[in-house]
Amino acid sequence: MYNKDVKRLKINYKTLEEFKKFKEYGIQELSMLEDLQANISENEIESPFFGIYLGDSLVARMSLYKRGKKYDQYFEPSQEYLEIWKLETLKDYQQQGYGRALIEFAKSFNLPIKTSPRVKSSEFWNKMGFTPVKYDMDRDLGENPLVWHPAGVSQKA
Ligand code: COA
Repeated sequence: MYNKDVKRLKINYKTLEEFKKFKEYGIQELSMLEDLQANISENEIESPFFGIYLGDSLVARMSLYKRGKKYDQYFEPSQEYLEIWKLETLKDYQQQGYGRALIEFAKSFNLPIKTSPRVKSSEFWNKMGFTPVKYDMDRDLGENPLVWHPAGVSQKA
């Protein structure tokens, strides 16, 4: 079995190079690159990224960000929750449990979780125990959020 240790990613030039292998490389990564370049003395920046390495290579990653209670529009009672985006396992490593390991890591904080996944991954999210929220246009606009919550928490009616 592979060792699927989830690590908080240190954002440096090496990590940003690894990020280029992921399909969802975009403005967030470019802005981290700019931050690095603007702050050469520091050489590493804080980021919400977590990932799993196989040897030296990053094979799966996600952004996992804690949002404060005042932003919560999804859970009852209102509380801090986690938001996941950019969950992705590199193609050659899919279906080997990396995605599950990242989600189990996120669940281990025992806070509710919200994500707005890409359309084709619904079976994966279903298996991870995430359920669609009741669509509310004012809140959700173009998103189709999925949520997971620990015992004692429910979705806002
Ligand atoms: N369709 C159906 N089931 C899927 C699936 C898919 N696309 N991806 C994963 N699963 C299932 C696995 O079979 C596994 O089931 P099991 O526990 O019963 O064995 C469970 O979900 C966990 O899978 P895991 O191996 O941990 O997931 P992963 O590392 O492959 O990551 C994604 C899942 C969605 C994050 C990954 O496929 C990804 O990054 N995809 C990018 C693009 C995308 O969204 N593709 C979707 C298919 S086109």
